[in-house]
Amino acid sequence: MTSIPAFRSILIKTGILVGLVGSASFGTQAKEGMWLPPTIKAREADMKAAGLQIPVERLYNDNGTGLNNAVVLFGRGCTGEIISPKGLLLTNHHCGYGTVQGLSSKEHDYFANGFWAMNNAQELPCPGLTVTFIRRMENVTENILSGLDDTLSEAGRDSIITVRVKNLERGYKVNTGYDASIKPYFNGNQYWISITETFRDIRLVGFPPNGIGQFGGDTDNWMWPRHTGDFSMFRVYAGKNNKPADFSKENKPYQTQQFFTINAGGYKEGDFTMVYGFPGTTMEYISSYQLDHINTYIDPIRIAARTKKLEAWTKRMQADRDVFLKYTSKRAGVANGWKKWQGELRGLSLNNVPAKKLEYETKFQGWANKDEKYPYADDLLALMGARSLAVNDLIKADEYYKEAVYGVELIQHAATLDRVLQLMRVGYRGAGLQDTVQKITKGAEGFYKNYDAGTDKDVFVALMPLFLDNCNSCVPAVYKRQFAEKGKDYGRWANYVYTSMLTEQSKLTQFAANVISADSVRILNDPAWQLYDGVTAKRKKDVMPVLTAYYDRMNYLNRLYMKSQMQQRGEMLYPDANLTLRLTYGKVKGIDPDGPAGYSYQTNLDEAIAKNNPEVDEFRVPEKMKQLHSTKDYGKWKVNGTVPLAFIADNHTSGGNSGSPVLNAKGELIGTNFDRIWEGTMSDVYFDPRLSRNISVDVRYTLFVIEKFGGAGWLLKEMKIVQK
Ligand code: ARG
Ligand code: GLU
Repeated sequence: MTSIPAFRSILIKTGILVGLVGSASFGTQAKEGMWLPPTIKAREADMKAAGLQIPVERLYNDNGTGLNNAVVLFGRGCTGEIISPKGLLLTNHHCGYGTVQGLSSKEHDYFANGFWAMNNAQELPCPGLTVTFIRRMENVTENILSGLDDTLSEAGRDSIITVRVKNLERGYKVNTGYDASIKPYFNGNQYWISITETFRDIRLVGFPPNGIGQFGGDTDNWMWPRHTGDFSMFRVYAGKNNKPADFSKENKPYQTQQFFTINAGGYKEGDFTMVYGFPGTTMEYISSYQLDHINTYIDPIRIAARTKKLEAWTKRMQADRDVFLKYTSKRAGVANGWKKWQGELRGLSLNNVPAKKLEYETKFQGWANKDEKYPYADDLLALMGARSLAVNDLIKADEYYKEAVYGVELIQHAATLDRVLQLMRVGYRGAGLQDTVQKITKGAEGFYKNYDAGTDKDVFVALMPLFLDNCNSCVPAVYKRQFAEKGKDYGRWANYVYTSMLTEQSKLTQFAANVISADSVRILNDPAWQLYDGVTAKRKKDVMPVLTAYYDRMNYLNRLYMKSQMQQRGEMLYPDANLTLRLTYGKVKGIDPDGPAGYSYQTNLDEAIAKNNPEVDEFRVPEKMKQLHSTKDYGKWKVNGTVPLAFIADNHTSGGNSGSPVLNAKGELIGTNFDRIWEGTMSDVYFDPRLSRNISVDVRYTLFVIEKFGGAGWLLKEMKIVQK
């Protein structure tokens, strides 16, 4: 009935598949799943069997008394939890990192020294930071999809859906007095609305120095065993009537009865745990073809480009504290993905995931061929295969553009000049032109605050060979021309490119001061703008039209593929992560990734101290921590002569779950989630309970650091701490 694209049928026919795969399960694994809170009633029996001791209504309900009111979206991509009736918030150190960079300077170097407010008045306002509560969620699929034929094209469908979504959101806002946002789930087969409340006056309360909060740095990132006190604390402030307000001295700490009780009584291996938070993106139901794009192009290209970039940055950052302060937050983000994708590739290969996907698809196809009720399912895989294979080269090119070309800050920043050029082209003149250009250059202040042209030039010299050598036909002519003009010498080429007016803010300001429309020539002659334009124009002409059509078509096919997977599997599935509130559950559990030795489920302070290395930034334990350790000054937080530090469990988490509350069977806080183990990061496309683990800071270590290291014991008084 259906043609399976060539390479697959060969694998299947020759039986190679059978040898490659072990027992690939067709259904979900026991504890896999990021569940929508309003749907967990259907999982209550399973959760109770696994150990849950409270009614699921305590975790989530519609009338304001559920613990969902204590879990917040922190900033734009992390989770936080409320741990006191006065709006005290706990999240990760790395989630507060960017904000703290904005508050830091050489004089107030909070990365080196930490920050601890000793009373409310000392808490530091964090401009731009927001915290969003989810008051409730409702399934609005009927309202959004009713009457829409499944097979309607994406464009036709989208325009109707967009209108319905807007109208419904507006209605909810008026009726509830809250914000409301509707998102698609299950690739557009369901729609849910989140009723939210966003607070805008958020203040920094506590931030350990990097020697605790980022201990182990990139070396230990995504790894277990782990010894990072990856937490920081903020406070939500409210205006009149306890409602969100812009920053004001008059604002008061946000008052709430919904906060997490802290359980400092510990846990043991096998104990039930839950993680409540905002996982960002997963792709658990994709086809083998999309997986192949990740495996063959996307991850490897990103890794290669970032390896070069990080080498260049690190060298400069180590030599110069100013460069360190400018680049530390950017670097953490770039390095984080770089290492994650390496783990993902490793996990995919260790697990034979591509082969398992193929096996799954063979079964799916068998079902589709047999079942007459779902004729649209028959050709889905074949169609997805044909489309995906046809865009391989463009997927590759686009990844090079994004990582190796726009990865050079100067080239990416030339978008600023391009905007100016567009204004000139549409006829802006005189004062109108000058005003607008000055606004645009003023807007670039944020960029220059964290920019060092010398560092970036090293990145250019490192990335251009990667781009020119590997992307052949995708390299625009202007690159080849400039390179040839400079004698095919990357250093000389860089010297030329970095004469651009974009390298310093003062040059740009000067340009803006008396700009006239004839100055378009200066932009056209700017070497960095030329490189920006070369790639941007080529992308727009040769790449994006095809890729956009491809993604559009794949959205359509994936929607139907998801729908038929749901029909075929006939069990309760969870929707892929989309940065909305989810609950996942599992057990505290050690790991054995490489052999019989295995790793315990827990680490402690003694091990952290043993890793101390004054020579290496990432492993330098702060003096005060060494003292606390040598005098065993652990206060209430001493367990077996040390302090428990971090632990792992097999909860299904993803990026965005950073800072999430990790709860015991009673819904009490035992830790703060901050990472996954390396081999398990492929759980974003394939969860394997044998290898996937989330990593959390033990709340007792958090309390120990606050009280004994930070000397901020006053904060503990507003928390509710129980011991069992
Ligand atoms: N891997 C964690 C996450 O994905 C923590 C990253 C922050 N730490 C670091 N060393 N860059 O966000
Ligand atoms: N560190 C991640 C974050 O920032 C969480 C770890 C993960 O990806 O699971 O969300």
